[in-house]
Amino acid sequence: MGIQFKQETFRDDYTFSNSPEAIRRFPFPFDRDEYMYSVNIEQHMPGPPKSYVEFPIDIDEHYVSEMRDRAIVLKEDPLRCQSLPHMLPAEWDLVELLMDSMSKHYPEHFQLTKDGDRWHWVNQPLGIDQTFTFGDTATLPCPPMEYITRQCQGDFALLDQRQDNLWMDAGIVTTQADWSLDFDIGMNFMEWHGPVPIAHDIGVFDRALKFLLNLQQGRPVRRLNWTMTINPRLDTSPENYHKWGQEKATVTPENVGDKVHLRVELQALWRLPRSNAIVFSIRAYLISMEELVTIPKWGRRFPRILKSLPEPIANYKGLSRYREMTIDWLSKYDDGQPTSPGF
Ligand code: HEM
Repeated sequence: MGIQFKQETFRDDYTFSNSPEAIRRFPFPFDRDEYMYSVNIEQHMPGPPKSYVEFPIDIDEHYVSEMRDRAIVLKEDPLRCQSLPHMLPAEWDLVELLMDSMSKHYPEHFQLTKDGDRWHWVNQPLGIDQTFTFGDTATLPCPPMEYITRQCQGDFALLDQRQDNLWMDAGIVTTQADWSLDFDIGMNFMEWHGPVPIAHDIGVFDRALKFLLNLQQGRPVRRLNWTMTINPRLDTSPENYHKWGQEKATVTPENVGDKVHLRVELQALWRLPRSNAIVFSIRAYLISMEELVTIPKWGRRFPRILKSLPEPIANYKGLSRYREMTIDWLSKYDDGQPTSPGF
């Protein structure tokens, strides 16, 4: 049986929630009781069945609703999807990567047939049936990156490699943790990471860039990043800060469990075959505090993470305003027992 897709919202009445199965497969990102930035990059190898890394591209119960939310964002703000002209080969590379992966791993939902350059793509959950010529943009209803990423969970940035650096020259970004593609487009790796505290000083970005410049085709890598979000809102962009910034002030001791969410990003990177560009995927997962504490070891560990989080990181992540309230709410789930290393 295929995935049961939920009908839910990530705005207004916020009907998003996780099924017990989605909670069990949530990418809890902490393998110890403290958190500090590091070059936490590992090979993007297949993980256990049903886990969030079973397949290279993870499709889950939120797929259809997330794609609907992306369409709303793009309608209101077309600049969330941009591509500089030299990135067209990378856009087609991305079409191939996503269609191949989705059809191979979720054949009950997505089918791809290839007759030379003549491709036939069927996306059953979204009701799409498209025949096109690979490499010929005129045969798709919109440019190739936009076409396929309107059908795949997660944000995507396409990075051109030149002058020993990576340049954010294309992307579709509608589920971001407070950064802007429109602001960052054309920037390099060090420039777009400019606002991040501490990590530059401890050499994280120097080492990460060096590693990525040598990324090999067929050997993708991944890392987890995290922040927190009030209400299950996917679009926490600077462009819409006036809509969600004020929601931070609505947290009270009574509604922490329902309103405060841990937001984890599964970030994966692939070297692309024709363009030699890199694709960076940012797949956001949300979980409310109520849902999180249903896994006792997470309920024990997360308050310890929040307590020990260095001030500059808490401020950068924008969670200082409700940090104490969240620690207080979570503290009843921390019995003081030691936790073991690992997830
Ligand atoms: C934050 C993009 C790879 C570590 C960010 C931000 C962006 C970004 C846009 C937000 C900056 C802001 O505040 O405006 C990317 C892209 C990557 C990439 C496109 C692909 C090459 C990496 C890698 C690391 C890394 C490989 C490994 C260490 C971080 C950290 C933050 C950050 C630690 C701060 C996150 C937080 O505290 O929430 N990244 N990044 N990034 N990035 Fe990257």
